[in-house]
Amino acid sequence: MAQLWGGRFTKQENELVNAFNESLTFDRRLAEQDIVGSLAHAAMLTQQGILTKEEGEQIMEGLESIHKDISDGTLKVAGDYEDIHSFVESNLIERIGETGKKLHTGRSRNDQVAVDMRLYVRNELDEISDLLLELLHTVLSLMEEHQHTYMPGFTHLQKAQPVTLSHHFGAYFEMFRRDYERMISIRGRMNVCPLGSGALAGTTYPLDRQMTAQILEFDGPCENSMDGVSDRDYVIETLDALAIAMMHLSRLSEEICIWNSNEYQFIELDDAYATGSSIMPQKKNPDIAELIRGKTGRVYGALVQMLTTMKGLPLAYDKDMQEDKEMTFDAVDTVKNCLTLMKGMLSTSRFNEERMKKSAQQGFANATDAADYLVRKGVPFRDAHGMIGQLVLRCIEKNTSLDELPLSEYRAVCPAFDKDVYEAISLSACVSRRLTKGAPGAMAEEIAGAKAYLRMIEDLDKSEER
Ligand code: ARG
Repeated sequence: MAQLWGGRFTKQENELVNAFNESLTFDRRLAEQDIVGSLAHAAMLTQQGILTKEEGEQIMEGLESIHKDISDGTLKVAGDYEDIHSFVESNLIERIGETGKKLHTGRSRNDQVAVDMRLYVRNELDEISDLLLELLHTVLSLMEEHQHTYMPGFTHLQKAQPVTLSHHFGAYFEMFRRDYERMISIRGRMNVCPLGSGALAGTTYPLDRQMTAQILEFDGPCENSMDGVSDRDYVIETLDALAIAMMHLSRLSEEICIWNSNEYQFIELDDAYATGSSIMPQKKNPDIAELIRGKTGRVYGALVQMLTTMKGLPLAYDKDMQEDKEMTFDAVDTVKNCLTLMKGMLSTSRFNEERMKKSAQQGFANATDAADYLVRKGVPFRDAHGMIGQLVLRCIEKNTSLDELPLSEYRAVCPAFDKDVYEAISLSACVSRRLTKGAPGAMAEEIAGAKAYLRMIEDLDKSEER
């Protein structure tokens, strides 16, 4: 195996040890980051006079050509190399000869891999933020579209009080908004450059750490070189935020499965987001929603794995940290797919408004409103609660609903009832009377706020591009 460190070793290599130790099979994903980091390092070494101008140019040209060949597929990132760093360096030396051996001056693979991983995570945080924004737009349009789509709101999965689909999606808007903000705040905290930390104790060369940080668009170099090579907090924070985002996607998926069930029939999934059964011809299964729900487990797994990997590590770098990659890559890929699929599934689904409305009318979701009616007529709430309880019992006996129970029944329980009770417990009244901030009757305000929020982010993005 091509290694960067044969000097002090005398014994033959062991194949299993090599296979166990190598990381190229997965850190090949960091090829781009590794080359970009090396380009910054080489430019800095040149500016500092550690490399001559000619050496610097030769190295940078060599790196660029490797980059180009990897991008267009001419050079396959594979072979008998220990890791991506060995791969790039060996290829560089092969292409430009002896000068290639000078690239690693004032650098260790420890700060090299630390910068590669940071560049990777930072980019993925940006892409995931964008996907979350797209999902927020989709959810917002459902909020706008369904302001008059009545449905039962549930607690304990029992019909509780009527809401609208708009209000229901408003809750998911808030969850995904927090997910978005988590990505942004992690990015802000992690954006420091470990390059120049060396193996752990910096270097004796006059490196310009500010310069490499700037080229790689970090806010600055990290403060402490031991922390620089051994900090993986940002990986854990990212996995944590991804786990929470998956939890949200999973809850929504679970609702979609329930809504799609034969009993509910609140939602009709587009054929593209459902699958059939090999034996039961009538089936249209919500496999995509189920898979999103199911894949939440592997993202949680990545978080727990990374927390556990890091918990006993003495400073500074330890090879355990190589384990930061595979499950993180998998978690990131999984979340990106799930966000894209959820957006597609939501924007193509049809909501069965009639069914939802009927469901909201059954099951006494308006019982609280009937009690509130009596309160408006001067009955204390606790007494009103008891009276409506009796009426609900009466409805159950007679197999009817509060909307259809005759006024005489109402009056038998409390003479304060009048025929305006029917209007007071109608779905539209139940919803539109709930005007407290955040309630289903105040959706216009909530939607305006959500719109303003997304507009603010777009304006911010535009001003940063300028
Ligand atoms: N493949 C290693 C990793 O991912 C690169 C750093 C290796 N450093 C070392 N001293 N062996 O962490």
